[in-house]
Amino acid sequence: MSLYQNLALNGSFAWQGLRHPLDMYSSLGPTLSEATFGLLGFSFEPRRDIGDLSGKVIFVTGGNAGLGKETVLQLAQHNPSRIYLAARDATKAREAISLIHDTISASVDIRHIDLDLSSFQSIRDAAEKFCSECDRLDILILNAGTMANPPELTKEGFEIQFGTNHIGHFLLTKLLLPTLKKTAGSPSSDVRIVTLSSVGSHAAPSFDVMTSTSALLAVHTLVRYSASKAANILFASELARRYPEILSVSVHPGAVSSELYRHTSAMNAVSRFGLNILSTVFRSIRTGAMNQLWAAGTEREQLVNGAYYVPIGVRGSSRFADDADMARKLWEWTENQIAEKSGKGTPRRKVKKVHKSSGADDKKLQATLKKMNVQPIQAIEEVNMFKEDGNVIHFGAPKVHASVPSNTFALYGNGEEKELTELVPGILNQLGPDSLASLRKLAESYQNMQKNQAGAEGKKDDDEDDIPDLVEGENFESNVE
Ligand SMILES: NC(=O)c1ccc[n+]([C@@H]2O[C@H](COP(=O)([O-])OP(=O)(O)OC[C@H]3O[C@@H](n4cnc5c(N)ncnc54)[C@H](OP(=O)(O)O)[C@@H]3O)[C@@H](O)[C@H]2O)c1
Repeated sequence: MSLYQNLALNGSFAWQGLRHPLDMYSSLGPTLSEATFGLLGFSFEPRRDIGDLSGKVIFVTGGNAGLGKETVLQLAQHNPSRIYLAARDATKAREAISLIHDTISASVDIRHIDLDLSSFQSIRDAAEKFCSECDRLDILILNAGTMANPPELTKEGFEIQFGTNHIGHFLLTKLLLPTLKKTAGSPSSDVRIVTLSSVGSHAAPSFDVMTSTSALLAVHTLVRYSASKAANILFASELARRYPEILSVSVHPGAVSSELYRHTSAMNAVSRFGLNILSTVFRSIRTGAMNQLWAAGTEREQLVNGAYYVPIGVRGSSRFADDADMARKLWEWTENQIAEKSGKGTPRRKVKKVHKSSGADDKKLQATLKKMNVQPIQAIEEVNMFKEDGNVIHFGAPKVHASVPSNTFALYGNGEEKELTELVPGILNQLGPDSLASLRKLAESYQNMQKNQAGAEGKKDDDEDDIPDLVEGENFESNVE
């Protein structure tokens, strides 16, 4: 990725921060409530504010470290019947359970359940084990997550962050739903699912990129993470629509110093620099876990089913929390993917599979290119072809393959014809000496634009027109919430 592209990416994250000041403020600073002496947000102290959990069964994914471990520790002090600490590493899980037992005075039944969210088999085994031991589930906390991974796939071939953070949790929840629903039907039940999302979701790419592994692999690793965290919000809201008897919310914990950032050391210098600056104001794990503890343990009346919250207990603004259509599409797409990848013996599909002809064509093309030994070039964010008429054929996150010795290059994806003015200024540094005609056209269109603006009555106050689409799929103007 070039320096320009890196700066553009980092700029886009900074821009998202400016567009969502509440999220940024509650992420990095003290909680709203602390800073405003209780006037804004909720004052929340887990020891004081979580009620008695006796008789309840709790399941926390990623319980061996970071926010998950702190969540188990705090909930364990409220007398639950049992807590399942789900983790993929048995040694880490044992150590976490022993540390929790050493820290709290109460004797609580905390059990490790083996769960690797990047493997359908492991998820199925975990759900089967849980169901064989327990006939109720009151609080499910979908906390596990991975961020900034290098290009990698889950066992079933999904991009690792999207596959773990969204698809793995989706399958787990579906398998636990019969128990959750049964519990919700029992007298005075209060069944909750808390899904960990992130403020990073604001920088998610378009739905088409989100749901295409090859397109996801072509964008920056932090954009891939953003996609998974947007999917978490969409999933939580759709869950609330489909199963209103269960309280389902998504939460952003704030920016917290944890092992989540372990892969960022491999990122480029520009991204590392930005993160290093931010990390000086990160929260501790103890206060970082507050928002999910609030969602799991505060009085039910304080929560809105399907909503997204920033710390602590403040309704966050998210275009994904409000987009019922995208949430439904993602749910159906995920169900289809799981059915497709699971093969024989999996539950019958309830949703008709929609074949995208472009996806099938892409696969054929990839196979042919492989035969010709044309190698893929990763992480091309965009390709622009300048036409003689001054317009541009613009490809966002295209697939590019090349074989230099045979002078063969292949480019495919969704090409859109755009006016040059639509892509300015991000495109300026791509204009070569051949593009004089384009530049002339650009100058002319600016002149025309100025004339039109001067003559137009009731000129609209739209000071965001010059901001380029820095992240693929983001349209800043239309997304202003
Ligand atoms: N920290 C932040 O600033 C921040 C900000 C926004 C959102 N979040 C979200 O908060 C949640 C918790 O993050 P954290 O800060 O506590 O990070 P963390 O300390 O790295 O903990 C992540 C947990 O997820 C587990 N995990 C990762 N991949 C897994 C897989 N394939 N199968 C099962 N478990 C897996 C990890 O297990 P291992 O120990 O085996 O790797 C670990 O237990 C994540 O969903 C994250 O996206 C965090």
